[in-house]
Amino acid sequence: MKNHQILFSRRDFLKHFGKGLTGAALTAALAQIPSWVMAQTIDDPPLRTRAARKGILFGAEAMQSELIADHEFATHFINECGILVPGNELKWHMLRPTSSGFNFQPADWLASFAQNANLQLRGHTLIWGDSLPAWFMNTVKDNNAASYLKDHIAAVAGRYAGQVHSWDVVNEPIMPWDGRSDGLRNSVWLKTLGPNYIDMAFEAAAAADPEALLVLNQNFLEYDAPKWTGFRTKTLQLLERLKSSNVPIHALGIQAHLRSDYGEFNQESFRNFLHEVANMGLMIMITELDVYDANLPLETGLRDSLVAGQYEEFLSVALNEPAVNTVITWGLSDKYTWYTDNGARADNSPVRPLPLDDGFNRKLAWKAMADVFDNKPPVKIKAPRDFHFKD
Ligand code: G3I
Repeated sequence: MKNHQILFSRRDFLKHFGKGLTGAALTAALAQIPSWVMAQTIDDPPLRTRAARKGILFGAEAMQSELIADHEFATHFINECGILVPGNELKWHMLRPTSSGFNFQPADWLASFAQNANLQLRGHTLIWGDSLPAWFMNTVKDNNAASYLKDHIAAVAGRYAGQVHSWDVVNEPIMPWDGRSDGLRNSVWLKTLGPNYIDMAFEAAAAADPEALLVLNQNFLEYDAPKWTGFRTKTLQLLERLKSSNVPIHALGIQAHLRSDYGEFNQESFRNFLHEVANMGLMIMITELDVYDANLPLETGLRDSLVAGQYEEFLSVALNEPAVNTVITWGLSDKYTWYTDNGARADNSPVRPLPLDDGFNRKLAWKAMADVFDNKPPVKIKAPRDFHFKD
């Protein structure tokens, strides 16, 4: 693949990023775009274009700290992506570092970055049992938890109303290992408000931003070894309950942190699971796709093939289901991935879980995704699941 750096003309800007803008609005938008944003890498059509041709929205997670400091990364991000997901900036611990107020600055910066670059914006996440600020546990109790939940959603979803493609209203509510018959995670929200906290959150989000798609985002839905099956059955049970109670939920988010050490990827059972969700009238979004590679061999070519094979196999099945309309990777480049801190390799070699390498070159994983989007015959790579390596 060849990379050609070119400077975008005003006409190119209109074609790629300024759709729908005219007159003063266009002049204002152009003035806000720093010159480096206009320098794009033009190559084979980017993932967003290939996905869009098939009616799929493609994008990735990124953080303000990465986009603000690394112009080359930002350029590649805008080139490849149609939607931006703030990695942490919309979580409680960043929005509410103290009990006395909100800090919207990082999230506001990302919202205007997205708007200026004509990226859609995803909201992650309104209600989650993790990433709560230190003051939260001492302050939020049974008698005030409902107010905190509703006020937070009104303030945050209300602030960005009309700008957000979709909100992860509740993140990771299912945790069958907590032992409850409904499979709900025994989070602080469940402990203080009971199972109804989920209904309450969706109602509040619908009131605050009637235009956003409202999503329940869940992890551990990708594999069907006995350890994982409860995540699927309890998620389906919860979705059925919410739908039958007319709770305003529009989509299931499947995180898709793929790992070959989680067992065989069973195409048929995953296809059936997607069907069951779709049959409830819900859309499905792949929200946090990446491939753990700390258990894969050191050799880069082989490792990249195995990673790409997992992208290819998973996405081929997922995109066969018409209800799946969005694919988002959790990061775009290996330079910025949560696995650097949370899934490092024993050999200390940098991890390679994403479509672009740490120099922003397109990897086999990018090619695998492009091919699935193009609906070409699958890349002839099969990722062995029982692979064990000695590095
Ligand atoms: O910013 C501080 C930094 O100043 C400090 O030196 C460092 C020390 O640990 O911590 C930094 O904050 C970390 C933050 O990421 C920014 O990198 C937090 O400790 C860390 O907890 C936080 O982790 C995030 C994690 O969610 C928890 O919120 C990851 O970046 C983020 O990628 C990860 O994303 C989650 C999704 O929200 C939900 N699904 C799973 C996914 C991966 O775990």
